[in-house]
Amino acid sequence: MRLILLGPPGAGKGTQAQGLAEHFGIVHISTGDMFRAAIKNGTELGLKAKSYSDAGTLVPDDVTIGIVRERLGQSDCNRGFLLDGFPRTRVQAEALTEILKTLDMPLDAAINVEVDRHLLMERLTGRRVCRKCGATYHIVFNPPQEEGQCGVCDGELYQRKDDNEETCERRLDVYQNETAPLTDYYAQKEILRNIQGDQEIDQVFADILVALKD
Ligand code: AP5
Ligand code: MG
Ligand code: ZN
Repeated sequence: MRLILLGPPGAGKGTQAQGLAEHFGIVHISTGDMFRAAIKNGTELGLKAKSYSDAGTLVPDDVTIGIVRERLGQSDCNRGFLLDGFPRTRVQAEALTEILKTLDMPLDAAINVEVDRHLLMERLTGRRVCRKCGATYHIVFNPPQEEGQCGVCDGELYQRKDDNEETCERRLDVYQNETAPLTDYYAQKEILRNIQGDQEIDQVFADILVALKD
């Protein structure tokens, strides 16, 4: 199974990706996670990405396309993959089409998780992420058993630097302007699957599985 996950910041891409990667035994590739790891490790990529990620704007296309091209070329992607947060611009979408053509690995579906903007701010500002394994929680909607502690690996939970109100507003604007139009691109390719994301996490997951059977 080869998938991409579209949807605004806070739609639940990362949350659903965890379950989908496990269900299908495929690789979860999140460009946002890759940038955050690079920033934490102080690599060259991290230095390039930091100012954009902190500000809630997009890392330049050439940088982003480069890391995805390299990642998709690794052998574990042969068993299938799920791209979370890529592509986000028309240029990235066209580059992805090209890369997958070269690798002879066409996409099965583009899953678009739809959530109204007014619900997203609360989801984003209440999010907590595990420092060790990356599992995602929400202080109200998906709280951990023990406050501040990951239920998967006992790691410490933290709040992302870009999950403050001001940066979230910018991220939502960037999504609206740059990324939302990509639904047309995938609708034309007849692989777009729209999913109602303003439901319980488990229901969203069930709906995605049904949509993938079509
Ligand atoms: P990235 O990390 O991809 O952030 P994003 O797109 O803003 O998406 P999020 O991770 O915020 O949301 P999500 O949909 O994964 O939601 P989640 O499942 O966590 O990108 C960060 C930055 O990196 C970008 O701003 C940019 O600078 C850079 N970048 C990344 N990719 C790039 C690219 N391709 N090009 C250029 N730059 C790029 O859920 C959110 C919260 O809601 C959680 O607390 C969760 O528990 C909760 N929740 C989830 N589902 C539900 C539900 N059904 N009901 C109630 N609560 C729910
Ligand atoms: Mg995410
Ligand atoms: Zn953890």
